[in-house]
Amino acid sequence: MNHPFAGRSMAVINDFTRDERRYVFTKTRELKEALESGDPARIERFRISDPDFGIYEVFLEDSTRTKESFKNAAHFHRAKLSALSSESSSFNKGESYKDTFINLAGYDNRIFIIRSKLEGVCRWLENALSDYSRRHGLSWKPSFINAGDGRHEHPTQELLDEFTFLEDNSWDYSSIHVALVGDLYHGRTVHSKADGLNVFDSVQVDLIAPDVLEMPDYYVQQMRRNGFTVRTFPSIEAYLQQSHIADKWYFTRPQLERMGDRVLKRKDELREMITFQHRFLSMLPEGTIFYHPLPRNKENAELPGFLDPLPLNGWERQSANGRLVRIILVGLLAGLFGEDFSGKQHQEMPDVEDYIETVNTSDRPAVKRYSEGVHPIDEGIVIDHICRGDTAQEIREHMGKIVSILGLHGKGGEWVSTSQESREKFKGIIFRPGHRPLSEKEIRQLAAITPGSTLNIISAGAVKEKFRLHTPPRMYKISGLSCKNELCISHPDHHEGVDPHFIKTDEGTMHCLYCDESHTFKEVWR
Ligand code: CP
Repeated sequence: MNHPFAGRSMAVINDFTRDERRYVFTKTRELKEALESGDPARIERFRISDPDFGIYEVFLEDSTRTKESFKNAAHFHRAKLSALSSESSSFNKGESYKDTFINLAGYDNRIFIIRSKLEGVCRWLENALSDYSRRHGLSWKPSFINAGDGRHEHPTQELLDEFTFLEDNSWDYSSIHVALVGDLYHGRTVHSKADGLNVFDSVQVDLIAPDVLEMPDYYVQQMRRNGFTVRTFPSIEAYLQQSHIADKWYFTRPQLERMGDRVLKRKDELREMITFQHRFLSMLPEGTIFYHPLPRNKENAELPGFLDPLPLNGWERQSANGRLVRIILVGLLAGLFGEDFSGKQHQEMPDVEDYIETVNTSDRPAVKRYSEGVHPIDEGIVIDHICRGDTAQEIREHMGKIVSILGLHGKGGEWVSTSQESREKFKGIIFRPGHRPLSEKEIRQLAAITPGSTLNIISAGAVKEKFRLHTPPRMYKISGLSCKNELCISHPDHHEGVDPHFIKTDEGTMHCLYCDESHTFKEVWR
């Protein structure tokens, strides 16, 4: 499959590079102009026009816009549209996501659009069904489009938001100043903006949310990594006290259905802080436009009805644009157009960083003696510098994990000692006299469990080999790993059979491949 877009999935917005998204917007603009022209020949070029091309909607959470706009997009394409009825499906008999979608792909369906409470479902299915395609020798693999997964991301909403911002920027990509207002904690549409807004060259984002609804730190950091200027404000009132006010405001509703009792008790006060009031109108810069992914609550709308007829209403056009970007996305994944794309393509992250450092032992004293208690070790292994700097209790607990995961039961012991550099700092040491040298796979596993440690292979009373272990760029296929996010598809409570998978960030933390939850290296161990 050499087509730049055919058979690809969109689990998060970053699955399309900024060049690829700019291409989506160019095609969407062409489609919009073709539809406005009413010229059937121009419009026809955007249709799949294949009644056997299977598009499947699986909505496990409520939706109006996303579901109906994809449905309208499928009708535009004159393709075969199906919808799984979740209330009466075999999900209710405990069937896994993987089994369910293998069945639906087996009926020759090519594109799946999924909304779920669980996070990371599309990434998991993209990987699992690629394997299915290979096993069955298929010339194609199904595409998975994330139509919103829990609090994680909503990438196709991001596409239509960016497209509408661009329309209002007269197609100028050079800069944007946008205020994100509302429930930034649960709002998946604003989380997708942490990467999505980088389609613009220069980005200023103002985050307006009360303390308990603040944007999770991971996304704020991601915005900064992307070079955005980020400011935070607790309420609209506080935001309007200063003079540098955005000309684009993006509102999100408080997601009461995802909040716990502690937050729900404060719902009236929180709403007030993120609801636009009539008296604020005169404080807005000229030409300000408001956006909202919708729905808004009819009793307590953060964008009250008096705003509807005003020129600042951008949300109605934004919603209509949803069908257009989704027509284009489906056409690209179907391989209908996109062959003329030039620019940076999305690539799998390389896994080349070497994290097992071999230390030269030849210039060391011929006999560096490790001893276990009173007995010097002649043959065996010693794992040193474990959790240097942690408390004695933390180090003991972690050594217990290392022994359990690597199966280092048997003769030997575990010590908490002080570091040579500083008598104030503790470190852990595991001695295993007589233990065979660890295999390469075990050494990689050890690095994943305890980066920063050293492994010494002792032979004839001296250190024969020594390895300094660093944090691996990825951790997976190791028993004992677990994502701490209970909504993640890989969390063991969901019994979906998903192998947890973590990727190291530039800051040294580990983030989950499926749900993007950030972990310290210790937190990834069950
Ligand atoms: N914007 C959006 O996702 O709306 P729906 O929940 O109605 O699909």
